[in-house]
Amino acid sequence: MHVRRLSHFHQRLHLHVLNMFILLVAAVVVQRAAGTCRNYCNSIPINYPFGIDDGCGSPEFRHMLNCSSTDLFFATPSGNYKVQSIDYDKKNLVIFDPAMSTCSILQPHHDFVLSDIQSALIPPSSDTVFVLMNCSIDSPVLNHYKSLCFNFAGHTCDELYGACTSFKLFHLLSNSTPPPCCFTGYGTVKFMSMNILDCTHYTSVYNTDNLKGVGPLDWLYGIKLSYGVPDTGCERCTKSGGTCGFDVETQALLCICSAAVNATRECGAGSVSSTAGQKPWQRTSSFLLTCTVYYSVSVFGYSRQSFVTQFQRD
Ligand SMILES: *[C@@H]1O[C@H](CO)[C@@H](O)[C@H](O)[C@H]1NC(C)=O
Ligand SMILES: *[C@@H]1O[C@H](CO)[C@@H](O)[C@H](O)[C@H]1NC(C)=O
Ligand SMILES: *[C@@H]1O[C@H](CO)[C@@H](O)[C@H](O)[C@H]1NC(C)=O
Repeated sequence: MHVRRLSHFHQRLHLHVLNMFILLVAAVVVQRAAGTCRNYCNSIPINYPFGIDDGCGSPEFRHMLNCSSTDLFFATPSGNYKVQSIDYDKKNLVIFDPAMSTCSILQPHHDFVLSDIQSALIPPSSDTVFVLMNCSIDSPVLNHYKSLCFNFAGHTCDELYGACTSFKLFHLLSNSTPPPCCFTGYGTVKFMSMNILDCTHYTSVYNTDNLKGVGPLDWLYGIKLSYGVPDTGCERCTKSGGTCGFDVETQALLCICSAAVNATRECGAGSVSSTAGQKPWQRTSSFLLTCTVYYSVSVFGYSRQSFVTQFQRD
Protein backbone atom coordinates (compact mmCIF):
# COMPACT_ATOMS: atom_id res chain seq x y z
CA MET A 1 0.00 0.00 0.00
CA HIS A 2 2.68 2.38 1.00
CA VAL A 3 4.74 1.51 -2.09
CA ARG A 4 1.82 2.05 -4.51
CA ARG A 5 1.09 5.43 -3.02
CA LEU A 6 4.68 6.45 -3.42
CA SER A 7 4.87 5.34 -7.07
CA HIS A 8 1.67 7.22 -7.78
CA PHE A 9 3.27 10.31 -6.27
CA HIS A 10 6.30 9.79 -8.49
CA GLN A 11 4.19 9.39 -11.61
CA ARG A 12 2.50 12.71 -10.98
CA LEU A 13 5.78 14.33 -10.20
CA HIS A 14 7.23 13.10 -13.49
CA LEU A 15 4.25 14.44 -15.39
CA HIS A 16 4.74 17.81 -13.79
CA VAL A 17 8.44 17.89 -14.49
CA LEU A 18 7.67 17.08 -18.12
CA ASN A 19 5.02 19.80 -18.29
CA MET A 20 7.39 22.26 -16.76
CA PHE A 21 10.10 21.38 -19.25
CA ILE A 22 7.75 21.82 -22.22
CA LEU A 23 6.60 25.16 -20.87
CA LEU A 24 10.14 26.40 -20.39
CA VAL A 25 11.09 25.42 -23.94
CA ALA A 26 7.96 27.14 -25.25
CA ALA A 27 8.77 30.23 -23.20
CA VAL A 28 12.25 30.47 -24.68
CA VAL A 29 10.88 30.01 -28.22
CA VAL A 30 8.18 32.64 -27.68
CA GLN A 31 10.67 35.08 -26.23
CA ARG A 32 12.89 34.64 -29.27
CA ALA A 33 10.05 34.83 -31.77
CA ALA A 34 8.71 37.98 -30.17
CA GLY A 35 12.31 39.20 -29.93
CA THR A 36 12.29 42.75 -31.11
CA CYS A 37 15.29 43.71 -33.20
CA ARG A 38 17.87 41.26 -34.49
CA ASN A 39 21.33 42.71 -33.95
CA TYR A 40 23.17 40.38 -36.27
CA CYS A 41 22.72 39.29 -39.85
CA ASN A 42 24.83 36.14 -40.06
CA SER A 43 28.21 37.48 -38.91
CA ILE A 44 27.59 41.19 -39.52
CA PRO A 45 26.50 43.22 -36.49
CA ILE A 46 23.43 45.39 -37.07
CA ASN A 47 23.40 48.53 -34.93
CA TYR A 48 21.85 51.96 -35.05
CA PRO A 49 21.10 53.61 -37.46
CA PHE A 50 20.53 50.35 -39.34
CA GLY A 51 17.87 47.76 -38.76
CA ILE A 52 16.88 44.54 -40.48
CA ASP A 53 13.49 44.20 -38.83
CA ASP A 54 10.93 46.84 -39.66
CA GLY A 55 10.61 49.41 -36.91
CA CYS A 56 14.23 48.96 -35.81
CA GLY A 57 17.01 51.49 -36.27
CA SER A 58 16.42 54.94 -37.69
CA PRO A 59 13.35 55.53 -39.90
CA GLU A 60 15.60 57.31 -42.44
CA PHE A 61 17.44 54.03 -43.05
CA ARG A 62 14.26 51.97 -43.28
CA HIS A 63 14.19 49.24 -45.95
CA MET A 64 17.85 49.76 -46.85
CA LEU A 65 19.15 46.48 -45.47
CA ASN A 66 17.81 43.08 -46.30
CA CYS A 67 19.07 40.00 -44.45
CA SER A 68 18.86 36.62 -46.17
CA SER A 69 19.91 33.32 -44.64
CA THR A 70 23.40 33.70 -46.07
CA ASP A 71 24.04 37.37 -46.78
CA LEU A 72 23.21 40.95 -45.92
CA PHE A 73 22.11 43.12 -48.83
CA PHE A 74 21.94 46.86 -49.37
CA ALA A 75 18.78 47.47 -51.38
CA THR A 76 18.83 50.22 -54.03
CA PRO A 77 16.68 51.05 -57.07
CA SER A 78 19.30 49.34 -59.27
CA GLY A 79 19.41 46.13 -57.25
CA ASN A 80 20.51 44.46 -54.05
CA TYR A 81 24.23 44.72 -53.35
CA LYS A 82 25.99 42.38 -51.00
CA VAL A 83 27.29 44.11 -47.88
CA GLN A 84 30.87 43.06 -47.18
CA SER A 85 31.37 44.95 -43.95
CA ILE A 86 30.02 47.75 -41.78
CA ASP A 87 32.42 49.92 -39.81
CA TYR A 88 30.41 51.65 -37.07
CA ASP A 89 33.37 53.71 -35.84
CA LYS A 90 34.30 55.12 -39.22
CA LYS A 91 30.64 55.12 -40.24
CA ASN A 92 30.94 53.34 -43.53
CA LEU A 93 29.69 50.26 -45.25
CA VAL A 94 31.34 48.40 -48.13
CA ILE A 95 29.12 46.87 -50.78
CA PHE A 96 29.88 44.90 -53.88
CA ASP A 97 28.07 45.13 -57.20
CA PRO A 98 28.03 41.57 -58.54
CA ALA A 99 27.32 42.93 -62.03
CA MET A 100 30.35 45.18 -62.30
CA SER A 101 33.66 44.30 -63.91
CA THR A 102 36.75 43.57 -61.85
CA CYS A 103 40.25 42.38 -62.55
CA SER A 104 38.98 38.85 -62.91
CA ILE A 105 35.67 39.30 -64.73
CA LEU A 106 34.37 41.54 -67.49
CA GLN A 107 30.66 42.27 -67.36
CA PRO A 108 28.63 44.69 -69.47
CA HIS A 109 27.75 47.89 -67.69
CA HIS A 110 24.94 48.19 -65.26
CA ASP A 111 23.93 51.52 -63.76
CA PHE A 112 24.54 52.02 -60.08
CA VAL A 113 21.51 53.95 -58.85
CA LEU A 114 20.76 55.12 -55.32
CA SER A 115 17.46 56.60 -54.21
CA ASP A 116 17.42 60.34 -53.44
CA ILE A 117 17.37 59.55 -49.73
CA GLN A 118 20.33 57.19 -50.08
CA SER A 119 22.28 59.71 -52.16
CA ALA A 120 21.78 62.24 -49.39
CA LEU A 121 22.27 60.01 -46.35
CA ILE A 122 24.65 57.28 -47.41
CA PRO A 123 26.50 58.24 -50.62
CA PRO A 124 29.72 56.63 -51.87
CA SER A 125 32.70 57.93 -49.91
CA SER A 126 35.17 60.38 -51.38
CA ASP A 127 37.80 57.63 -51.44
CA THR A 128 35.68 55.50 -53.75
CA VAL A 129 36.67 55.92 -57.39
CA PHE A 130 34.51 54.89 -60.34
CA VAL A 131 36.44 53.78 -63.39
CA LEU A 132 34.62 54.06 -66.71
CA MET A 133 36.15 51.79 -69.30
CA ASN A 134 36.01 51.33 -73.06
CA CYS A 135 34.45 54.74 -73.58
CA SER A 136 33.62 55.84 -77.09
CA ILE A 137 35.48 58.88 -78.41
CA ASP A 138 32.15 60.70 -78.38
CA SER A 139 31.70 60.15 -74.64
CA PRO A 140 30.83 63.36 -72.76
CA VAL A 141 33.64 62.63 -70.28
CA LEU A 142 36.15 62.85 -73.12
CA ASN A 143 34.65 66.02 -74.51
CA HIS A 144 32.46 68.59 -72.82
CA TYR A 145 32.74 67.00 -69.37
CA LYS A 146 36.42 66.17 -69.59
CA SER A 147 37.02 67.88 -66.26
CA LEU A 148 35.04 65.15 -64.47
CA CYS A 149 37.89 62.70 -65.04
CA PHE A 150 40.78 63.11 -62.67
CA ASN A 151 44.32 61.88 -62.31
CA PHE A 152 44.04 58.82 -60.12
CA ALA A 153 47.36 58.64 -58.25
CA GLY A 154 49.18 58.57 -61.56
CA HIS A 155 47.39 55.49 -62.88
CA THR A 156 46.65 55.36 -66.61
CA CYS A 157 44.15 53.58 -68.86
CA ASP A 158 47.07 51.71 -70.43
CA GLU A 159 48.18 50.42 -67.07
CA LEU A 160 44.63 49.33 -66.29
CA TYR A 161 44.10 47.58 -69.59
CA GLY A 162 47.45 45.84 -69.26
CA ALA A 163 47.18 44.83 -65.63
CA CYS A 164 44.64 42.03 -65.39
CA THR A 165 43.27 39.24 -67.50
CA SER A 166 39.81 40.74 -67.84
CA PHE A 167 40.80 44.30 -68.75
CA LYS A 168 43.32 43.00 -71.31
CA LEU A 169 40.37 42.22 -73.57
CA PHE A 170 39.91 45.92 -74.28
CA HIS A 171 43.43 45.96 -75.63
CA LEU A 172 43.03 42.79 -77.64
CA LEU A 173 39.72 43.74 -79.21
CA SER A 174 40.79 47.20 -80.31
CA ASN A 175 42.97 47.06 -83.41
CA SER A 176 44.87 50.28 -82.86
CA THR A 177 45.02 52.43 -79.73
CA PRO A 178 43.36 51.15 -76.56
CA PRO A 179 39.95 52.70 -75.89
CA PRO A 180 39.76 55.66 -73.47
CA CYS A 181 38.85 55.29 -69.81
CA CYS A 182 37.97 57.78 -67.09
CA PHE A 183 38.65 57.83 -63.36
CA THR A 184 35.83 59.75 -61.75
CA GLY A 185 33.66 60.19 -58.67
CA TYR A 186 30.14 59.12 -57.78
CA GLY A 187 28.74 62.50 -58.91
CA THR A 188 29.43 61.59 -62.53
CA VAL A 189 27.61 58.26 -62.50
CA LYS A 190 24.85 59.81 -60.42
CA PHE A 191 24.05 62.43 -63.04
CA MET A 192 24.81 60.45 -66.21
CA SER A 193 23.73 56.90 -66.95
CA MET A 194 26.24 54.55 -68.55
CA ASN A 195 24.37 54.94 -71.84
CA ILE A 196 24.85 58.69 -71.78
CA LEU A 197 28.45 58.28 -70.66
CA ASP A 198 28.92 55.97 -73.64
CA CYS A 199 31.32 53.60 -71.88
CA THR A 200 30.64 49.87 -72.06
CA HIS A 201 32.05 48.82 -68.68
CA TYR A 202 32.74 50.19 -65.24
CA THR A 203 34.38 49.17 -62.04
CA SER A 204 34.79 50.86 -58.68
CA VAL A 205 37.64 50.88 -56.23
CA TYR A 206 37.56 51.90 -52.57
CA ASN A 207 40.17 52.94 -49.98
CA THR A 208 41.93 54.79 -52.77
CA ASP A 209 43.88 57.22 -50.62
CA ASN A 210 47.20 55.41 -50.78
CA LEU A 211 47.23 53.72 -54.16
CA LYS A 212 50.19 55.52 -55.68
CA GLY A 213 52.36 52.85 -57.21
CA VAL A 214 49.92 50.07 -56.27
CA GLY A 215 48.73 48.20 -59.36
CA PRO A 216 45.12 47.30 -60.32
CA LEU A 217 45.66 43.69 -59.17
CA ASP A 218 45.96 44.95 -55.61
CA TRP A 219 43.09 47.43 -55.60
CA LEU A 220 40.01 46.77 -53.50
CA TYR A 221 36.99 46.47 -55.77
CA GLY A 222 33.67 47.57 -54.34
CA ILE A 223 31.84 50.68 -53.25
CA LYS A 224 32.32 52.25 -49.85
CA LEU A 225 29.30 54.20 -48.64
CA SER A 226 29.67 56.68 -45.82
CA TYR A 227 26.76 57.65 -43.62
CA GLY A 228 25.89 60.10 -40.92
CA VAL A 229 24.06 59.08 -37.78
CA PRO A 230 20.87 61.08 -37.13
CA ASP A 231 21.13 62.87 -33.80
CA THR A 232 17.91 61.74 -32.21
CA GLY A 233 18.99 60.91 -28.70
CA CYS A 234 19.42 57.22 -29.41
CA GLU A 235 22.24 57.02 -26.88
CA ARG A 236 19.84 57.78 -24.05
CA CYS A 237 17.69 54.83 -25.09
CA THR A 238 20.67 52.49 -25.54
CA LYS A 239 22.06 53.44 -22.12
CA SER A 240 18.75 52.55 -20.51
CA GLY A 241 18.97 49.07 -22.06
CA GLY A 242 16.69 49.70 -25.01
CA THR A 243 17.07 49.51 -28.78
CA CYS A 244 16.31 52.53 -30.95
CA GLY A 245 13.44 52.08 -33.33
CA PHE A 246 10.35 53.76 -34.65
CA ASP A 247 6.63 53.31 -35.05
CA VAL A 248 6.11 51.68 -38.44
CA GLU A 249 2.96 53.73 -39.07
CA THR A 250 3.82 57.20 -37.82
CA GLN A 251 7.64 56.87 -37.99
CA ALA A 252 7.71 58.42 -34.52
CA LEU A 253 10.87 57.48 -32.64
CA LEU A 254 10.62 54.72 -30.07
CA CYS A 255 12.87 53.16 -27.52
CA ILE A 256 12.14 49.45 -27.72
CA CYS A 257 12.59 48.04 -24.23
CA SER A 258 11.22 44.53 -24.60
CA ALA A 259 8.85 42.60 -26.81
CA ALA A 260 6.01 44.03 -24.75
CA VAL A 261 7.20 47.51 -23.88
CA ASN A 262 8.06 50.51 -26.03
CA ALA A 263 8.96 53.83 -24.46
CA THR A 264 9.27 57.19 -26.18
CA ARG A 265 12.77 58.10 -25.02
CA GLU A 266 14.24 55.59 -22.62
CA CYS A 267 13.33 52.46 -20.72
CA GLY A 268 12.27 53.69 -17.31
CA ALA A 269 13.16 51.66 -14.24
CA GLY A 270 9.89 50.29 -12.98
CA SER A 271 7.76 53.12 -14.31
CA VAL A 272 6.56 51.49 -17.53
CA SER A 273 7.11 47.88 -16.62
CA SER A 274 9.25 45.96 -14.19
CA THR A 275 11.08 44.36 -17.08
CA ALA A 276 11.94 47.63 -18.75
CA GLY A 277 15.59 48.56 -18.80
CA GLN A 278 16.90 45.05 -18.43
CA LYS A 279 19.13 43.38 -20.96
CA PRO A 280 17.36 40.69 -23.03
CA TRP A 281 19.16 37.89 -21.18
CA GLN A 282 18.10 39.38 -17.85
CA ARG A 283 14.50 39.53 -19.02
CA THR A 284 14.64 35.94 -20.25
CA SER A 285 16.28 34.62 -17.13
CA SER A 286 13.94 36.46 -14.77
CA PHE A 287 11.03 35.13 -16.81
CA LEU A 288 12.39 31.60 -16.57
CA LEU A 289 12.97 32.01 -12.85
CA THR A 290 9.37 33.09 -12.37
CA CYS A 291 8.19 30.03 -14.32
CA THR A 292 10.39 27.71 -12.31
CA VAL A 293 9.23 29.09 -8.98
CA TYR A 294 5.61 29.01 -10.06
CA TYR A 295 5.85 25.41 -11.20
CA SER A 296 7.84 24.21 -8.25
CA VAL A 297 5.20 25.65 -5.96
CA SER A 298 2.31 24.18 -7.93
CA VAL A 299 3.95 20.76 -8.32
CA PHE A 300 4.77 20.64 -4.65
CA GLY A 301 1.30 21.86 -3.70
CA TYR A 302 -0.50 19.47 -5.99
CA SER A 303 1.58 16.44 -5.04
CA ARG A 304 1.17 17.21 -1.39
CA GLN A 305 -2.55 17.61 -1.87
CA SER A 306 -2.95 14.34 -3.78
CA PHE A 307 -0.78 12.57 -1.24
CA VAL A 308 -2.92 13.90 1.58
CA THR A 309 -6.12 13.03 -0.27
CA GLN A 310 -4.93 9.48 -0.85
CA PHE A 311 -3.78 9.19 2.70
CA GLN A 312 -7.20 10.29 3.90
CA ARG A 313 -8.93 7.89 1.45
CA ASP A 314 -6.80 5.05 2.81
C1 LIG B 1 7.17 48.32 -30.31
O1 LIG B 1 7.69 48.84 -31.51
C2 LIG B 1 8.01 47.86 -32.47
C3 LIG B 1 8.67 48.56 -33.63
O2 LIG B 1 7.83 49.55 -34.17
C4 LIG B 1 6.75 47.12 -32.89
O3 LIG B 1 7.09 46.09 -33.80
C5 LIG B 1 6.12 46.51 -31.65
O4 LIG B 1 4.90 45.90 -32.00
C6 LIG B 1 5.89 47.57 -30.59
N1 LIG B 1 5.41 46.91 -29.38
C7 LIG B 1 4.44 47.43 -28.62
C8 LIG B 1 4.11 46.66 -27.39
O5 LIG B 1 3.85 48.47 -28.92
C1 LIG C 1 16.34 40.90 -50.41
O1 LIG C 1 17.43 40.49 -51.23
C2 LIG C 1 17.18 39.31 -51.98
C3 LIG C 1 18.46 38.93 -52.69
O2 LIG C 1 18.82 39.84 -53.66
C4 LIG C 1 16.00 39.57 -52.92
O3 LIG C 1 15.73 38.40 -53.65
C5 LIG C 1 14.79 40.01 -52.11
O4 LIG C 1 13.74 40.34 -52.98
C6 LIG C 1 15.12 41.21 -51.26
N1 LIG C 1 13.98 41.54 -50.42
C7 LIG C 1 13.58 42.80 -50.25
C8 LIG C 1 12.43 42.99 -49.33
O5 LIG C 1 14.12 43.75 -50.79
C1 LIG D 1 34.25 48.29 -76.45
O1 LIG D 1 33.28 49.15 -77.01
C2 LIG D 1 32.93 48.87 -78.35
C3 LIG D 1 31.91 49.91 -78.79
O2 LIG D 1 32.31 51.18 -78.48
C4 LIG D 1 32.39 47.48 -78.45
O3 LIG D 1 32.08 47.16 -79.82
C5 LIG D 1 33.37 46.48 -77.91
O4 LIG D 1 32.78 45.20 -77.89
C6 LIG D 1 33.76 46.87 -76.49
N1 LIG D 1 34.79 45.96 -75.98
C7 LIG D 1 34.53 44.98 -75.12
C8 LIG D 1 35.71 44.16 -74.71
O5 LIG D 1 33.42 44.75 -74.67
